[in-house]
Amino acid sequence: MTVHPTFPESVAADSVFLADVHAGLSTPQKTLSPKYFYDAAGSELFEQITALPEYYPTRTEVGILDARGDEIAAYLPKQAALVEFGSGSTAKLRRLLNHLPDLAAYVPVDVSGEFLAEQATTLQKDFPDLTVEPVVADFTKPFALPETTGMAPRAGFFPGSTVGNFEPEEARALLDSFGAILGPDALLILGVDLVKDTARLEAAYDDAAGVTAAFNMNLLKRINHELGGDFDLDAFRHKAVFNPNASRIEMHLESRKDQNVRIGGETFAFRAGETIHTENSYKYTLDSFKDLAARAGWQSVTVWTDPEALFSVHVLRRD
Ligand code: SAH
Ligand code: AVI
Repeated sequence: MTVHPTFPESVAADSVFLADVHAGLSTPQKTLSPKYFYDAAGSELFEQITALPEYYPTRTEVGILDARGDEIAAYLPKQAALVEFGSGSTAKLRRLLNHLPDLAAYVPVDVSGEFLAEQATTLQKDFPDLTVEPVVADFTKPFALPETTGMAPRAGFFPGSTVGNFEPEEARALLDSFGAILGPDALLILGVDLVKDTARLEAAYDDAAGVTAAFNMNLLKRINHELGGDFDLDAFRHKAVFNPNASRIEMHLESRKDQNVRIGGETFAFRAGETIHTENSYKYTLDSFKDLAARAGWQSVTVWTDPEALFSVHVLRRD
């Protein structure tokens, strides 16, 4: 579908969302992209996830960043512009800033526009000397960095294992495109979740308090609110399973019964037990991730883990 360029941005965005939902629910395995989790409510729910006892990735990565902050600072060029892909609450950047007094600019990039604006405003108030230049964009598509970052040497920050939400081949292409955005000799600091026992992985994606279930279900809420869908939220349940063959957690929304759902003039039939696959979260080994990065033109400079080897932080340099 072609969107007329004079349409207001929200209308254009809605029609892309609608087209993606229609396409995703029309394939034999129904699928929706996890990037649609993140409206303002979804971003808030993700923040709650990061504090859950079962969700080890955030606190483990923060521990590594705190311990290695001075080493990270030593790798970064002076007066760098740091671009964070999928910046969320910017909490990890705040921790790093303790070690990076001479950062020239911070460019948080996120698809969750309202949440990004709030976080960037608060960050700017808290760090008045830092240039904060938020960019609302889908980082899987071409986008421009703010001109004010101009001649500053650029570095990338991609924490949280967001890279794991992409199929390995998509992740390779994404890392390659980050290289093109950041330019020659760039440095990329990137968080990657590691393979571990299934029980621990599945608990992290199916917490006792039901926050991850609410996060998953938020996708259906968005479709109802923004696209006039009529999903009955009580007729779906959250599922999270580790698929060892693909080395990934899969999140699904499972239909509790046979039912029809109408969205934007089309009807989608669900059988009892049929699922919508909403997210993959790939888990790597240190070597499997280094191989993937190398295929995207990024060489490993160093990698750190925590004592239990739950999570890793890679420092990569563009060839
Ligand atoms: N960096 C933060 C947040 C990780 S959550 C941390 O480590 O805690 C993933 C973030 O990426 C969310 O804020 C989400 O809105 C954003 N995101 C997901 N897909 C995106 C895409 N395709 N383009 C831009 N941002 C995206
Ligand atoms: C953002 N991303 C890396 C999270 C993850 O762990 O895959 C999203 C998430 N999904 C469920 N819980 C957290």
